Amino acid sequence: MTITRDHCTTLDANDPLRHFRERYHLPKGKIYLDGNSLGLMAESVPARVTDAVTRQWAEDLITSWNRNNWFTMPRSIGNKIARLVGGGTDNVIVADTISINLFKLLTSALAMRRDRKIILSDTGNFPSDLYVAQGLNNFLADGHELKTVAPEDVIASITSDVAVVMVTEVDYRTARRHNMKALIAKAHTVGALVIWDLSHSAGAIPVDLLGDNADFAVGCTYKYINGGPGSQAFVFVHPRHHATAMPALVGWWGHENPFAFDLEWKAADGLVRQQCGTQAILSLVALDAALDEWADVDMLAMQKKSHSLCQTFIDLVEASCAKHRLKLAGPRNMAERGSHVSFQCDEGYAVMQALISKGVVGDFRAPDMIRFGFAPLYNTHVEVFEAAAMLAEILDKRLWDKPEFLTRKKVT
Ligand SMILES: Cc1ncc(COP(=O)(O)O)c(C=O)c1O
Repeated sequence: MTITRDHCTTLDANDPLRHFRERYHLPKGKIYLDGNSLGLMAESVPARVTDAVTRQWAEDLITSWNRNNWFTMPRSIGNKIARLVGGGTDNVIVADTISINLFKLLTSALAMRRDRKIILSDTGNFPSDLYVAQGLNNFLADGHELKTVAPEDVIASITSDVAVVMVTEVDYRTARRHNMKALIAKAHTVGALVIWDLSHSAGAIPVDLLGDNADFAVGCTYKYINGGPGSQAFVFVHPRHHATAMPALVGWWGHENPFAFDLEWKAADGLVRQQCGTQAILSLVALDAALDEWADVDMLAMQKKSHSLCQTFIDLVEASCAKHRLKLAGPRNMAERGSHVSFQCDEGYAVMQALISKGVVGDFRAPDMIRFGFAPLYNTHVEVFEAAAMLAEILDKRLWDKPEFLTRKKVT
């Protein structure tokens, strides 16, 4: 069946999530397919941040730590995120970056498995995650090893010498999704722990951390959750590990009584000890406002819409760009994918620059992938239709073949 613009209009008219779009600021003349890198700003954010600056900071000043709940925001926001990832109550906290939180969780997990030296990951993992493990192993200088296998070989490679499996659920390039339940079950049968990176999952696909019996997780808030540039990451610790998980990176925010100013660190209860130091409050305020938009999102409707947007885009691109050498990355089965679509594409960097110049914003991931993120709360099927048509035109007319598109910028 040929997918027409009218068909896409009908799909959008019947979309149960269609009313969310108006809650976000959409830059004029742009089709924004990069919510998997930096999500749109919710319209409610500027007023909340202005209040935090002009009233809370300017007038209430230091009293805001109590009066405006600045000190407990990492926990209250964590509980809002928990709804999106099936984390329950008081098992999720926001703080720092994903990389820093991975360090905390890796050290917590390794200390719980001192007789084992292997951290198992895969070659599709985000490089920073691997760097954190490498840096930690170099520091420990105690025979720890980061073993990376192909993503499809992870489950079979979980042997009884593995201390911790550290994987990203949805591959940042291909969108391939690990089977969380099966992977955790296998790890637990051999006594290994699992740390999940949910950066490309949270706010894109339903996640059930407690239901799948996850040990630990981290995730990003500036992508699908729309928390804003550099907004804090989140950390999940299963309640069965609250008392035992002890990070190597500790500070006064994770002390049992920070304002006693003891000279000796004593762990706060449970998850709170995964905090280290003072957080950027203005970022937390923006994130808190962004999360309020998620309060009534039906996760199954979100997943259905994500599948529909991704499938429509794949079908349109494969039909209209058949004569060009584009190759879909990742599996075709939607249940095994996240909410972005990437194609291997010759001259992919220049093609993406040409698309951006025409108002279709996606990104490029080395070595050769053009990547398009579909945010279920605000992207539409008509946008998908227009983006695919623009891609075909750029390839057909070689509009990418210009010096200004071929020169690489610092951030791709
Ligand atoms: C899957 C994944 N993990 C980790 C990171 C790094 O996050 P951070 O810069 O917060 O450490 C990213 C960044 O985009 C990512 O996509």
